[in-house]
Amino acid sequence: MRIIAVYPGSFDPPTNGHLDIIERSSRMFARVVVAVALNIRKNVLFPPAERVRMLRRLTRRWGNVEVDSFRGLLVDYARGREARVLVRGLRAISDFEYEFQMAHMNKKLAPEIDTVMLMTGEQHSYISSNIVKEIAMFGGKIDDLVPPVVRDLVFNKMKGAKGK
Ligand code: PNS
Repeated sequence: MRIIAVYPGSFDPPTNGHLDIIERSSRMFARVVVAVALNIRKNVLFPPAERVRMLRRLTRRWGNVEVDSFRGLLVDYARGREARVLVRGLRAISDFEYEFQMAHMNKKLAPEIDTVMLMTGEQHSYISSNIVKEIAMFGGKIDDLVPPVVRDLVFNKMKGAKGK
């Protein structure tokens, strides 16, 4: 069976942890659609188009990975893409409660779609987009947390914000 999986998230910005999940999913599923959520209630650093552009650049090396964005309910988007699986990364127990709730709610909304949780590689288990932004804001080193292209874009964005 050629299973299509959707890997949704904010990706503000994409981290090494996200790329680890994308790479591993690309080996498990026929097609992986990395889906940037547009209607999230969060203060974001990068507009959606920039997040999509970064992810496209970072995932070019995997032929069965595609990057898209979506608005509205994730399960409606996944159905539209004929996806049978939603992929989420789990870093620690602290992620579990939120992911558990979301997986059950999505299952209730779309019983034909399953959520597959992948444990983030241990070297990435402490990385989050929020931590990356916070460290960068105070001039800390984020080289081990994000790819070089993302590091440069984050610091440029921060410089731009400070200049305003
Ligand atoms: O990277 P994030 O911020 O943890 O991703 C959360 C995301 C975007 C996957 C989640 O907020 C989502 O699916 N939003 C779309 C709206 C939706 O379907 N909400 C119900 C989920 S139970």
